[in-house]
Amino acid sequence: MSTAYLNGDYLPLEECKVSVLDRGFIFGDAVYELIPVYNSKPFYLQAHLMRLARSLEQTRINNPHTEDGWKQIINKLIETSGLEQLSVYLQVTRGVAKRDHAFPEDITPTVFAMTNSWPAVNTGMYKKGLTVITAEDMRWDRCDIKVTSLMANVMKKQQAAENNADEAIMIRDGSVLEGSATNVFIVKEGQVSTAPKNNLILPGIARDVVVEILNENNIPLFEQAATQAQLTDADEVWITSSTKECAPVTIVDGEPVGSGTPGELWQKVYDLYQQRKK
Ligand code: PDD
Repeated sequence: MSTAYLNGDYLPLEECKVSVLDRGFIFGDAVYELIPVYNSKPFYLQAHLMRLARSLEQTRINNPHTEDGWKQIINKLIETSGLEQLSVYLQVTRGVAKRDHAFPEDITPTVFAMTNSWPAVNTGMYKKGLTVITAEDMRWDRCDIKVTSLMANVMKKQQAAENNADEAIMIRDGSVLEGSATNVFIVKEGQVSTAPKNNLILPGIARDVVVEILNENNIPLFEQAATQAQLTDADEVWITSSTKECAPVTIVDGEPVGSGTPGELWQKVYDLYQQRKK
C-alpha cells in the first residue's frame, strides 16, 4: 500500500483516519487538486498550486502551507511511491467541528494527500476515439472552484457510464461548457473553440496546456462556448484533463463526429502534448 500524507505525518494509506465530524465528510466542505507526475516530475506544478491557493481563498479555508511547504509534501510522496509515472491527489477540508453549516473561525484544516500509479493513457482507445453523451448541467454557478462536493459530476459521469459512454458533456442554457471531469474543445474548418474561463467551468490545467500549444503553433482559438448544434456539427471534438491529457471524441450522442475517426489537428496537438511531458 502506498504512503500517504495526513496532517503532517507520512503513513500507509490504510492507516489514514479522519474524524466523522470532519467537514469534508459531513458537508463536502473541501477542495482538491490532482497533479500528474511524469518521470518523477510534477507536470505544471506551479499552475496546480496556484489553482489550489485560489480554491482555498474562494472557499475561505486557510491555506495551511506555503508553496514550498506544498512542494515538499508532493516531492516526498513522489520519492516514497517508488513510481515514476503517477498522480498526486491533494485534499484540504475546512477541518473538524461540531456539525453546524456556518464555520468556526479558528478551525484547523485537514490536509490529506495520496499517490496513485498512473493509469497510462489507453492509446488503443485514442486510436478509435472516445464516446460522449450530452447532458443538462445541473451544477451550482461556482464551477471554477475545485471543490470535492461533486454530486452533480458523479451523477453525470454515471449517466455516461450507463450509456456506454466515456464522458458526459454538460450543456447549460444551450452552451457547451465542459465534461463531468474534463474540458471540451471543438474544431470546425481549422478553427478551435473552447468555453471561456469563467464561473461556469473549471479552469483546467490540461486546457491551459492545449491553449499554449495552439497559440505557439498559430492555430486559431476562440474562447467562446459552442452551441449544442455546433458540437454536433463539429469536425473534431477533444476532451482534456490531467488524467486524459488531450483525448479525441469520435461519437457524440450516438452520432459520429466529422469522419468518425480522431482528427488530424487532434493528432498534432496530442503529439505536442506528449513532447511537453519529457
Ligand atoms: N478533474 N472540469 C472538471 C469538472 C474537472 O473535474 C476536471 C478535472 C477538469 C480538467 O481539469 P485539469 O485539466 O486541471 O485536470 C475540468 C480531475 C482530473 C478529477 O476530478 O479527478
